[in-house]
Amino acid sequence: MTRDYAVLEEVKATPQEILNCSYSKWYPVFKEHTASSMIIPLPQEFIHYLSSESIHLPEPPRDVQGTIEEISEEDSESDSDDDDDEWETELRVDPTKEFPMINEFITKALDKYTYVTPKLNWSAPKDASWIMIDNTLKCRNTNDIYLLLKSSDHITHDLDHPFDESSEIENPPVEYELVLRKWKEINPSLEFRVFVRNGVIVGKSQRDLNYYDFLKNLIEEEKINDIINEFINYEVIPKFNNRSFIIDIYVPRPYKKIRIIDINAFTRVTDSILYTWPELINDQEDNIRLITETNIGRFRTKAYSESQVPLDVVNASADPGALAELAKEWQINERKD
Ligand SMILES: Nc1ncnc2c1ncn2[C@@H]1O[C@H](COP(=O)(O)OP(=O)(O)O)[C@@H](O)[C@H]1O
Ligand SMILES: [Mg+2]
Repeated sequence: MTRDYAVLEEVKATPQEILNCSYSKWYPVFKEHTASSMIIPLPQEFIHYLSSESIHLPEPPRDVQGTIEEISEEDSESDSDDDDDEWETELRVDPTKEFPMINEFITKALDKYTYVTPKLNWSAPKDASWIMIDNTLKCRNTNDIYLLLKSSDHITHDLDHPFDESSEIENPPVEYELVLRKWKEINPSLEFRVFVRNGVIVGKSQRDLNYYDFLKNLIEEEKINDIINEFINYEVIPKFNNRSFIIDIYVPRPYKKIRIIDINAFTRVTDSILYTWPELINDQEDNIRLITETNIGRFRTKAYSESQVPLDVVNASADPGALAELAKEWQINERKD
């Protein structure tokens, strides 16, 4: 019987490949191409604070206005609900008092860079940007950083599921880190994602999911595809330990130099954006895929979808054949239950 749909193929990375994509592992190698950043290892107690359900922030500094300073569920808890001491304790953790080293680190970074944007080893709290006054990850004070980290499912994913797509059953412990990058004004239309498999570029995609009518011409006129190829082939592939990876880059005006935003594992945890996984695994393409007027609606709904539904579904949604395969699997599993 011939199959007219793609099978969901496994895309795994070794634990070492996943660890190699931690910011602190690749940043020293590509420092000259990346926004200046400061990194601090996180103690276990801080990880516990980040993973706990509650959000409690220190008293607001007097000169800061307009930021959401404190979200606590104390109000919604009934007063008689005193049987959950742990919850109460968590609510009272004041990170600025409990973690002076981290506090000092944040203060230093803010003194140095004025504005910073945070992330852990792999993820930035993009899904929590709505909580900030200007809807960005631009942090002006310590509270902004704690608030973003505590509100983000992407951060929780880094803490709870770093090895979801690992090829091994046993995985090493993770040394968690907080990264504070100097804030740069980034034009999202010029962010691209490049897929590298076995040392070869197999795809490139616009990263932001909006349609930019000028982008196609700009890429052609400024030869951006060639500039990206040269950078990835000569500057990145020979220097990075993973043979397969997915790199996010930024090409600011005047379109001569490339900045590295992030390096991700070549697994389904990383959004394949305008590609399907079978395409990335089996094919190789040289142009940059863009959102066009015709596919504008199809992909916009995909933003951050990786944190809302299982990854298999997100990826299969861009591939009707794979979706059929997944639906069939579900039916079989349902019958088994
Ligand atoms: N130094 C920076 N200044 C401002 N914004 C940044 C900076 N670095 C990254 N960003 C923005 O944050 C977004 C997410 O960063 P990224 O490191 O790719 O996180 P993730 O791996 O969670 O997607 C990027 O798409 C970019 O728009
Ligand atoms: Mg990333």
